[in-house]
Amino acid sequence: MSSLTADSVKLALSTVSDPQSGRDVMSAGMISGVVVREGKVGFVLTIDTAFKDDMARLREQCEAAVTKLPGVVSVTAVMTAQASGKIPPKPEAGYSQPRDRAVWNLTPVENVFKVIAVASGKGGVGKSTTALNLALALAKAGKRVGLLDADIYGPSLPRMLGLSGQPPIVEGKMVPPAAHGVECMSMGFITGEEAAMLRGPMISKTLHQLLRFTRWGQHGKLDLLLVDMPPGTGDIHLSMMQQVPMAGAVIVTTPQEVAVMDARKCMKMFMKLNVPVLGVVENMSYFVEPATGKQIALFGEGGGRKLAQEAGVAFLGEVPIDPFIGQSAEEAHVYDGAYASAYATIAEALL
Ligand SMILES: Nc1ncnc2c1ncn2[C@@H]1O[C@H](COP(=O)(O)OP(=O)(O)OP(=O)(O)O)[C@@H](O)[C@H]1O
Ligand SMILES: [Mg+2]
Repeated sequence: MSSLTADSVKLALSTVSDPQSGRDVMSAGMISGVVVREGKVGFVLTIDTAFKDDMARLREQCEAAVTKLPGVVSVTAVMTAQASGKIPPKPEAGYSQPRDRAVWNLTPVENVFKVIAVASGKGGVGKSTTALNLALALAKAGKRVGLLDADIYGPSLPRMLGLSGQPPIVEGKMVPPAAHGVECMSMGFITGEEAAMLRGPMISKTLHQLLRFTRWGQHGKLDLLLVDMPPGTGDIHLSMMQQVPMAGAVIVTTPQEVAVMDARKCMKMFMKLNVPVLGVVENMSYFVEPATGKQIALFGEGGGRKLAQEAGVAFLGEVPIDPFIGQSAEEAHVYDGAYASAYATIAEALL
């Protein structure tokens, strides 16, 4: 007897390639809602509105691939369109997401499912703000989330989360302080905001300790550990990638060309080091004029979206300029800001 299941349908669909992204429709995230009932198969094919003309053929190919499975009585693909930009286009030359990830020799972090880096290249574009608010939004969406402050020289997360003091040690491991359901570990808990004076091998050792001598997942295994990276593409980045199997990286940029240039460099570094880039977040995209509600692009427009497009990765969303963003996070009124919904959207796109 055949064993027609949603999984066998997904497997069949993963042989169909999307002409726009060059990836198969499963890993391009275009298939959802697969149901199988008494040989009848249904699923949703989400297409990008920008390419809707090419998509009728793709639907036929999807249906044909599933029809071939033994035991199939009928196949129905429902097409839905979503705003352009969510489905990554084909990358331009110079970008290539890793296919074969040589990470099997890296030890996973105990009690953590996935480690994701938040990085930017340029300093001060809002990595820490993004990592923090994304973590809060993910926690709000029901995920178990941790935050690792990999900015050993300039830790900022403890202050932003309103946490301080030495973490208690239980059975040889630090218990990460938590706020709003997000567990956090940072050099800041150990040295205060004083920059740590560390070089070369000490960096790698310190990162190792923050990662592995922390008792992550006080309330169950963490779904995600977000890592707030320092600016640049230096020792800490290399060290992180040599130590942990990273599930991916989120790249933060502001709309300005200078920031995009650095973000591009950073993105290519991750790809080269076998870490898939999950998408781009554009921070400080526009300012909403209080009197009129008009959106004003202070730093130019579309830099983040363009970068995502040329690299063939998802554009996860944009965050407006909010003068109170730092303040409210510090005061921990993190859900009040107008930008909270922007992060909810980004978290959803990331998931
Ligand atoms: N959307 C925003 N609107 C207004 N201010 C913002 C926004 N995002 C970040 N900021 C502010 O910009 C400053 C830099 O942000 P943040 O510390 O998150 O950047 P970073 O990239 O982590 O910096 P570094 O490279 O120093 O680690 C902070 O004062 C922060 O409050
Ligand atoms: Mg930072």
